[in-house]
Amino acid sequence: MNKLEGKVAIITGGASGIGAATARLFAKQGACAVVICDIQDELGKDLCKSIGSHCCTYIHCDVSDETQVKSLVDWTVETYGKLDIMISNAGIASKSDQTVVDMDMKHLDDLFAINIRGMVACLKHAARSMVERKVKGNIICMSSVLGRQAVLQHTDYCMSKHAVIGLMKSASKQLGQYGIRVNAVSPSVVATPLMCNMLEKEAAEVEKIFEPFTSLKGVILKAEDVAHAVLFLANGESGFITGHDLAVDGGFTIS
Ligand SMILES: NC(=O)c1ccc[n+]([C@@H]2O[C@H](COP(=O)([O-])OP(=O)(O)OC[C@H]3O[C@@H](n4cnc5c(N)ncnc54)[C@H](O)[C@@H]3O)[C@@H](O)[C@H]2O)c1
Repeated sequence: MNKLEGKVAIITGGASGIGAATARLFAKQGACAVVICDIQDELGKDLCKSIGSHCCTYIHCDVSDETQVKSLVDWTVETYGKLDIMISNAGIASKSDQTVVDMDMKHLDDLFAINIRGMVACLKHAARSMVERKVKGNIICMSSVLGRQAVLQHTDYCMSKHAVIGLMKSASKQLGQYGIRVNAVSPSVVATPLMCNMLEKEAAEVEKIFEPFTSLKGVILKAEDVAHAVLFLANGESGFITGHDLAVDGGFTIS
């Protein structure tokens, strides 16, 4: 307990799924401020209420709009005096099959605006605030097993998660001189709204479909498992780890 005592964290896409599980875990681990940003306002506000307004705040922020991201970071620093941890987690799935030959370029642009440009804006403004205030902070980007592997569909999503890894590695090189660590977490399949909507299936069905692809048997990946990997990278237990992509995939990517 209390691995994050006194820490101020922003979690983008924190109203649902992996982000919401991370927000709950960070509050349990003693973070003094967990700032959830999302575009699903009701969900975000309800989550904050359930975690407790003494340590959790919801801010509407569309990460594809750099001005909103800057305001989010500025507000956090003005309110809490610093930003220690940025969890850049917001993301969307492909809107259609998005095979190379049938690529809808508007869908690709919309997805890149959130999954890549949004991720860059979050890293940029978090890193600036950490450098300016000499905070030896932690930045964690949510990638995916599809940031490592090819896939038959959802090419734009796969490309975006590869880009996240390139961004994370470059940022870790550039920010190491300030003591800022930058890492990524790459989960396999978690039956969150993003995945269920993309596959047009119920959560139980999604979990059943993907179970054969992992080496670990009898274990289903849940959002809480991913949150624990994020927590590991966000606290001092991983103090010498930077530029690392931590797969949380039950062996999915080794075969
Ligand atoms: N679920 C999986 O199987 C899986 C696997 C690997 C990686 N991921 C990644 O994990 C991250 C979280 O996804 P999830 O599975 O928890 O899905 P989710 O849909 O439950 O959560 C994603 C959240 O991001 C928010 N969001 C979307 N666009 C936004 C924007 N423009 N600005 C701010 N917030 C926005 C959504 O409103 C939502 O609350 C994503 O980056 C996703 O690509 C998910």
